[in-house]
Amino acid sequence: MERVSETLVSREEIEAAVTRLAKEISEDYKGKDLIVVGILKGAAVFLADLIRKIDCPMIMDFMQVSSYYNGTVSSGNVKIKKDLDYDISGKDVLIVEDIIDSGVTMQCLKRELFSRNPGSIRVVAAFDKPSRRTVDFKADYVGIEVPDKFIVGYGLDYAGKYRNLPDVCVLEVDGGDK
Ligand code: IMP
Ligand code: MG
Repeated sequence: MERVSETLVSREEIEAAVTRLAKEISEDYKGKDLIVVGILKGAAVFLADLIRKIDCPMIMDFMQVSSYYNGTVSSGNVKIKKDLDYDISGKDVLIVEDIIDSGVTMQCLKRELFSRNPGSIRVVAAFDKPSRRTVDFKADYVGIEVPDKFIVGYGLDYAGKYRNLPDVCVLEVDGGDK
């Protein structure tokens, strides 16, 4: 069984980070053709908070993806479970992700979306675990860096649970690390 242990990032720290990110994004996307793409399901909570603090015009869309990775940097592949409703060609795409871990999912997704000829693509992640990277990937905007621990809350889940926790907490699992 798993157990939610200590709070790693409080709701106040998260809110401060979201405010900072939204300010940067609002400045950077002034006059651009912004489409915000939330990655389901983990980014739903972050996206809802973030977009209400972004003060430039935008539209919102969602994708749901899972990555396959066979060990080489270039051959990661992304399986699209739910695709975009909008055509992104010529648009300035901002991918909103919950957390970057190995980096494989975002690297693959960026490659897929680049093939649709957008004006630009950037990634904003609420959380980042840089020590876990297996590919060379860097998000353009990062909320909070976290250590190599499995975390839940603020949209992040374990087996579908705990997304509703307002703080980000460390999860301890008996007989395994996830
Ligand atoms: P990556 O392809 O390894 O970067 O995978 C990132 C995805 O793994 C995120 O979108 C999350 O869904 C999931 N993930 C990574 N670390 C955690 C964690 O600590 N808690 C919950 N989900 C996580
Ligand atoms: Mg995810």
